[in-house]
Amino acid sequence: MSDVVLVTAALPYANGSIHLGHLVEYIMTDIYVRALRMTGKEAIFICADDTHGTPIELNARKAGVAPEEFVARFAKEHLEDFTAFGIAFDSFHSTNSEENRRWVHEIFDALKAKNLIEKRPLEQFYDEQAQQFLPDRFVKGTCPFCGTSEQFGDVCEACGKTYDPSDLKEPYSVLTNTKPVRRTSEHLFVNLQTLEHELRAWFEEEGHLQPAIRNFVRGWLEAGLKDWCISRDTPYFGFPIPGEPGKYFYVWVDAPIGYISSTEAWAKSRGTPHRLTELWREGKMKLVHVIGKDIVYFHTLFWPALLASANLKKPDYVHVHGFLTVEGKKMSKTRGTFVQARTYLEHLDPLYLRWFYASRLGSSADDIDLSAEEFANIVNAELVNNVANLVSRGAKFLANKIDGKYASDFADLRSYQAEIQRMVEEAIICYEKFDQAGAMSLATKIATRGNRIFQENEPWKLVKKDPEAARKIVTLCLNLARAAVVLVAPAAPDFAQRAYKMLGLQGGPQRFAEAVAFDLLDTKVGDGDILAQRISKEHLERIFEASKPVNPEAKSTTAVSAPAPIIEPIEDEITIDTFSQIDLRVGLVVDAQSIPEAKKLLKLSIDLGEGRLRTIFAGLAQIYNPDELTGKKVVVVANLKPRKMRFGVSEGMVLAAGKQASIIDPGAETEIGSRIS
Ligand code: 2FM
Ligand code: ZN
Repeated sequence: MSDVVLVTAALPYANGSIHLGHLVEYIMTDIYVRALRMTGKEAIFICADDTHGTPIELNARKAGVAPEEFVARFAKEHLEDFTAFGIAFDSFHSTNSEENRRWVHEIFDALKAKNLIEKRPLEQFYDEQAQQFLPDRFVKGTCPFCGTSEQFGDVCEACGKTYDPSDLKEPYSVLTNTKPVRRTSEHLFVNLQTLEHELRAWFEEEGHLQPAIRNFVRGWLEAGLKDWCISRDTPYFGFPIPGEPGKYFYVWVDAPIGYISSTEAWAKSRGTPHRLTELWREGKMKLVHVIGKDIVYFHTLFWPALLASANLKKPDYVHVHGFLTVEGKKMSKTRGTFVQARTYLEHLDPLYLRWFYASRLGSSADDIDLSAEEFANIVNAELVNNVANLVSRGAKFLANKIDGKYASDFADLRSYQAEIQRMVEEAIICYEKFDQAGAMSLATKIATRGNRIFQENEPWKLVKKDPEAARKIVTLCLNLARAAVVLVAPAAPDFAQRAYKMLGLQGGPQRFAEAVAFDLLDTKVGDGDILAQRISKEHLERIFEASKPVNPEAKSTTAVSAPAPIIEPIEDEITIDTFSQIDLRVGLVVDAQSIPEAKKLLKLSIDLGEGRLRTIFAGLAQIYNPDELTGKKVVVVANLKPRKMRFGVSEGMVLAAGKQASIIDPGAETEIGSRIS
């Protein structure tokens, strides 16, 4: 393996919050990177937010903000969440960056220079009600291969086959639930057949894919490569295609290119811009992508094709992981198992989730299941009662029962070294092939051994007769504990650092070699608090409860990102006294008139039960016809200071909500003039 490994995790869409499903990948990749570093390699951990596409454009509009601001808010939130979970990217950039635009153009130019781009008419689904073309994921229908209903327009989740949206049976638009029509417009295609030879050469080299994934990809290659459409119509937030007015680069062109541009940002930020060239152009690295099984096609066919066309480094290994299920089922909003990273953090230490994922993740792309009971069992059995217990019980014993000092070197201690060395080597191999469960299991085996030695030798009794013998036993146990701590450090770095402190060591584990140093000798143990606390299944169940939607009608979904939970910032706190100074009353609109000179305003005559009508000018003309308002009850700020306007004096304000300025309906039953509090 090259000594420089560039590792990427898939770029999350800047269109929703990070949840426990996402975290499988980011935690496992973070563990992988940390493990590589502990072998002495340079590992560069690259990621970014994936900011483009139709859903982001539409959701930004819905939230009433520019897409740039919309994605910036998610970038901030994502990075905060990742950091809280100990996921330490070297670079977390954005696909909506200048670096990325340049790289997209360079690769597009390379494709054109090799005559790999063709322009031709494409018939696509069009939603007449929404007046827009429908991207693949905006059309749903029945899979043409296996007949499963409710499948997206690109790939069937049930049988894994890919197809065009137009192949779907009984298609409908997810925007309006209407049947889409077919319309034609000009699009750009990459001729993948021309690149087939290069793609096959890459594919045939051993070691780029897990065996099961390789079979899958082979199937796609055998079925023949179709041209790849890389242009998209409005509404779209993305990079415009030079020379193609109204067309944007498909998000799956600029998303993986984000791996390169994020590397560029990293190289520049460290003052080593040449590293970018060294890595991506000269290929002086091992390139590892970690992805979920839903985006294999993009990473094993389209992406190597783009890289090949621009003579850039192709992936050395694409590691595919499975999805997260919760209690044996797909994550679900209604069941509360669609848990956002933030909700978890409000209840539990990230250490537990990192530990659990690591101890479940093997090298295959099998799904992993998070069950509350198993979560608590694993955390308690492996972390709390085993590794943490060995460290703290041994360190406390030496500190409290003897004089806090480790024994001097002794033969019995060294007799364990060779075996631990073998186990450490095995664990490193596990980490290198993403078998994190294998590595964790070796670590816990070592700790179990230490605990058994402690238990069988009963140092608490021995210390009374032969304190030096007891000191040796505990010294042996703590050197074994240290080996276990070193091996779990990639999964539990903060824990490992605290354990090191308790063992009397500085900092945290840096290299796997420390596991076999067996040099906790003649020195003193440290101190520290409780390393990890027992949890129960109720801890996770409370998180599920807290994740249930307030509105139980909310649909269960895993496929489409939730609309962005973005609201205007809440104003500074006020007291109830301040609020009660605002006199809100129910009013009846007796008359409403437009004002020809003022497009936005309506002149309202409102009865507040005062024995006279008030005149209020309200900015509702673009939302309501005067007739729609006449006879409606509204909420009026009755003690607002009258304001002189161009068309007369306005004697109050009518409350309305949101961008659409919907008037607040106090209900038909309310009495005119009654106070709202
Ligand atoms: O599927 C997704 O969530 C994409 N945002 C992943 C992009 S990975 C890479 F290609 F950028
Ligand atoms: Zn199918």
